[in-house]
Amino acid sequence: MCIVGARPNFMKMAPILRAFAVHEPAIPALLVHTGQHYDASMSDQLFADLRLPRPDLNLEVGSGSHAVQTAEVMKRIEPAIDEHEPSCVLVVGDVNSTLACALVAVKKGVPVVHVEAGLRSGDRRMPEEINRVLTDQISDRLYTTERSALANLQREGVDEARVCFAGNVMIDSLHAARAQARSAADTLRAHGHDPALLQGGRGWGVVTMHRPSNVDDADTLRLLLQTLREVAQRLPLVFALHPRTRANIERFGLAGFVDAQRMLLLPPQGYLEMLGLMAGAAVVLTDSGGLQEETTALGVPCLTLRENTERPITVEQGTNTMVGRDAQAILAGVADILAGRGKQGRVPEYWDGRAATRIAADLWRWLAERPVTA
Ligand code: UD1
Repeated sequence: MCIVGARPNFMKMAPILRAFAVHEPAIPALLVHTGQHYDASMSDQLFADLRLPRPDLNLEVGSGSHAVQTAEVMKRIEPAIDEHEPSCVLVVGDVNSTLACALVAVKKGVPVVHVEAGLRSGDRRMPEEINRVLTDQISDRLYTTERSALANLQREGVDEARVCFAGNVMIDSLHAARAQARSAADTLRAHGHDPALLQGGRGWGVVTMHRPSNVDDADTLRLLLQTLREVAQRLPLVFALHPRTRANIERFGLAGFVDAQRMLLLPPQGYLEMLGLMAGAAVVLTDSGGLQEETTALGVPCLTLRENTERPITVEQGTNTMVGRDAQAILAGVADILAGRGKQGRVPEYWDGRAATRIAADLWRWLAERPVTA
């Protein structure tokens, strides 16, 4: 039983399902969407772009506080596990749906498989960090994307025998879709913007922000927008706005901090649109985990608007630089990149488009070797 819930899950699950289908023998999979993300732009569009099959089941939990959302997923996944009796429940990433389904499965004695295990920001104020730590504790088979994850897991008492370094499934999706990426000009045109803005000078920057720590506090969000407006005077910026961020800009009355000529606001973008926008960008400014990895794979400089990252390999080997929320650090980072001093980086080990194939092979063997329980 393969679980997806929120946007960053979809690009991880798509290659896994394809690898299961072509594995010999094929590994049967039931796809469950918890419905944590439900807007067409946050869910359906990505299913189409990533060639994900329609979910066999949609739990339609929707939005809510962390407690409500997690509890709803738990309540609704339980009967599905009872009915389908899966040989394992496979969860990806670190969203609330990940933890909720893992928790229900483990208490029913159903093995939990976690893809993208062992990443740690060290910041327990992040809801995702709690989801990561707890999911890994109750997982039976753990697949990691970078070698540093194993040390994190061992520090928390996870037996190395449960861990398999498989590589980064999100980069499998990137390889699969690269040729279909939509051009940035087409994306802008589709939203009524003139692409000429991107074509002169140094190109463009792409911005995404949605972490509660960046967008839920009015002062923080205002300062970030002010800094980005300064950046935009040097480099036009294309924003793909998460619903949370758009709502908060309105709620806090911050629309005036957006320079409409130089900061183009778009709704959440599809996967092929984001790929085209990022691949051609001079720089990506983001607080997303996924974009830190995708920019490293694309060789595009990334400035991460956070104090910490659970993906240190993107800084050590890739194109990522942590700039936090400090205006000076952000402006200096952009200036360096525009002066040609951006990080070149290299693509990390096993970010090679074959991670899901390795997972399918390992999981098949692992399930076959498990003792059969009544
Ligand atoms: C969730 C994940 C986060 C991930 C992000 C990607 C958790 C704890 N967080 O955060 O790790 O990086 O997804 O987007 O699981 N909303 C819509 N339409 C939707 C979904 C959400 O408008 O389809 C709005 C609602 O107002 C909702 C808010 O966005 O309350 C937040 O959604 P939620 O799923 O709670 O968390 P995200 O911030 O999206």
